[in-house]
Amino acid sequence: MADTVHPAAAQPSFQVPQHVAIIMDGNGRWAQARGLPRGEGHRRGVEALRRTVRAAGELGVRFLTIFSFSAENWSRPAPEINDLMGLLRLFVRNDLAELHANNVRVRIIGERGDLKPDILRLLDEAEKRTKANTGLTLVVAFNYGARQEIVRAALRMAKAIADGEVQFDAVKVENFARFLDAPDIPDPDLIIRTSGEQRLSNFLLWQSAYSELIFVPTYWPDFDRAALEAAINEYRRRERRFGGVVAKTGS
Ligand code: FPP
Repeated sequence: MADTVHPAAAQPSFQVPQHVAIIMDGNGRWAQARGLPRGEGHRRGVEALRRTVRAAGELGVRFLTIFSFSAENWSRPAPEINDLMGLLRLFVRNDLAELHANNVRVRIIGERGDLKPDILRLLDEAEKRTKANTGLTLVVAFNYGARQEIVRAALRMAKAIADGEVQFDAVKVENFARFLDAPDIPDPDLIIRTSGEQRLSNFLLWQSAYSELIFVPTYWPDFDRAALEAAINEYRRRERRFGGVVAKTGS
């Protein structure tokens, strides 16, 4: 088995990671360090997001997943939640046309069941309007938690078994991912977390099995193209083995 290479390693190698995922952390601390309200940090965070989407597309990244609101973020004070929902509304209303014009396809992952109808409509609209676009795919993790996603996938698989669409003995690692929220999107090659925290916080736990993790001290509102390029350069220096012994570099 020593020379066995995980199937993912058989993917063609790219100059840049095909899929970059980002935990956009540090908005609150950015604001606090400047004596500003946390909401200002989130507003500046949206500007950083615009810069990053643009840069990722220009650099040739195919999929960019962003952790924009976690299933656990509901425990924040109501005014901050309203602020974040307001920013999402603004982002979709103000930026969707530009994303669409730039051939960006928007996808949403996360639990939709308990979202307010107007938010749900906006998310649906973003997906529907950009469905045929062929450039960067922007995956917005909204009301997202990875454990919750895995349980949703298990339930979908159980239903498929009950309906006779999947045989019980087909319950295997290779067959599970197609029940996740976005089964057609490849696993992230690189996950970046800003703000110096070094954990995944319930983000893409299934998909990150072989992702390279890069933690940068920058608070999210200060993240820019240079920071993305620096992370990609570090990724290129990593040796990806996918559990095998054959070195697969990130580049
Ligand atoms: C983490 O900072 C960031 C978030 C919880 C939300 C990220 C949201 C945005 C960048 C703007 C919203 C964009 C969309 C599309 C909805 P934090 O508040 O946890 O910072 P802290 O750890 O310093 O307190």
